[in-house]
Amino acid sequence: MRLDAYLARAGLASRRQARDLIRRGRVRVDGEVCRDAARRIVSETVRLDGRAVGSPALIEDFILHKPEGFACSRDEREAPLVFDLLDERLRRREWLIAGRLDRATSGLLVLTRDGELVHRLTHPARKVPKRYRIGFEGELAPDAVDRCRAGLLLQGEDRPTRPAELVIQGPGRATLVLREGRTHQVRRMIRALGAEVVSLQRDRIGAFVLPPDLAPGDLRPLDRAERALLLSDNSL
Ligand code: URA
Repeated sequence: MRLDAYLARAGLASRRQARDLIRRGRVRVDGEVCRDAARRIVSETVRLDGRAVGSPALIEDFILHKPEGFACSRDEREAPLVFDLLDERLRRREWLIAGRLDRATSGLLVLTRDGELVHRLTHPARKVPKRYRIGFEGELAPDAVDRCRAGLLLQGEDRPTRPAELVIQGPGRATLVLREGRTHQVRRMIRALGAEVVSLQRDRIGAFVLPPDLAPGDLRPLDRAERALLLSDNSL
């Protein structure tokens, strides 16, 4: 979030007043006077006239572009962990992950401390769609699209998967939209359909698309409007 928006959201000033305070040198970021209203604030300490602006409480939700090779876990034995991508201050927070990704999967990951948000994003009854971009090897069954729509019975399970939309985009490339999150679900569905996933990226949750300027490993706070986009369930 920009520094001027940060001050405004903390309720200290309007956006215009915030820019004025910044220009006049009254705002410090991590101890240094900052006169750049566009400065990006992620986890830095912001002070106005020496008093801490208690805004980190406002920034509870982040998105991370998870690179391949990082585990969604707190267990050091599984290192490297997605939390290793955060700076020291953020790493210490008690994060919840809304919809874990396998180590070998990249893409959109939501980090929050809001259990309600996790529930709303992950509970199958909420039906928030998640889109996966798939690279696969082998041949998918000719009726793969229909079988995804109808629901697949995966090995070792007694309930078919919920209706899912498979779109074959070209040789070895497809997207799959799921409204639930079983363990390794995309990989297992593609295997059940005769092929093998070789690359997997989650690029959309609800109506929120992985921002093209968010490089793998980068993190940024979510504002309210973006949070609402994440939760919109009928967008795909
Ligand atoms: N499905 C998978 O197989 N892996 C993921 O990481 C997410 C969905």
